[in-house]
Amino acid sequence: MRVGYYQFNPLFGEVKRNLDVVATRLGQVQCDLMVLPELFASGYQFLSKAEVDALAETVPEGPTTQRLLELAQERTMHLVGGLPERHGGRCYNSAVVVGPEGFLGVYRKAHLFFQETLYFSPGDTGFRVWDIGSARIGVMVCFDWFYPEATRTLALKGADIVCHPSNLVLPHCPDAMVTRCLENRVFGITANRIGFEARGGQDRLTYIGKSQIVSPRGRLLHRAPADQEDVRVLEIGPAEARDKSLNPYNELLRDRRKDLYEL
Ligand code: ACM
Repeated sequence: MRVGYYQFNPLFGEVKRNLDVVATRLGQVQCDLMVLPELFASGYQFLSKAEVDALAETVPEGPTTQRLLELAQERTMHLVGGLPERHGGRCYNSAVVVGPEGFLGVYRKAHLFFQETLYFSPGDTGFRVWDIGSARIGVMVCFDWFYPEATRTLALKGADIVCHPSNLVLPHCPDAMVTRCLENRVFGITANRIGFEARGGQDRLTYIGKSQIVSPRGRLLHRAPADQEDVRVLEIGPAEARDKSLNPYNELLRDRRKDLYEL
């Protein structure tokens, strides 16, 4: 199975331009699964709820999901990417999953970071896993990494690969995701962005790049530079994530001491 990420510098509010950039770049790529950053077509640094509302899209009818659906068909690939979603009078920081077979579903970010808490509603979908044939893929968005329960829940639900659209600004996640993958025996694909935003007198947000693919044994298979565009595809064997045996005595998920863990 060929999996990858596309790390680039989206421009705030320029949805069509950002979608064109993605379509052009992915037109040169062959893979089964491609992960794009969080809010990859809208940009990240919103200044108000009104701004979020203006850029939020319905799913799957909105332009971002429709463009991803076209790309998925043309390129015969599955895509996971983040967008601001409008649903039932609320806006969510969401990620959609699409494939050549059509729209598969949406995940709404559970753990909102910093000023996202002002503008978005906390996700209500729970952590979801989709069987795309070559693998079972789970989705979480950026700051969800800080809550180990997110990756663990995806692993318990059978995810082989955790797709992780991100807009990281703090330095810790790339190394921490190695542990998330090791402790759950899953692949992790973190698709981060590069560049910076400093809109409306707000503090400058510098995105750290370093998108990466990690193996279920905690091996860093590839990490992107901090400040350069990078599209990367690697061959992986998703079956590696299904063997949860750590040694003849320890089975990763079976040996959890649920009786000792707080709910
Ligand atoms: C983040 O959750 N975008 C840091």
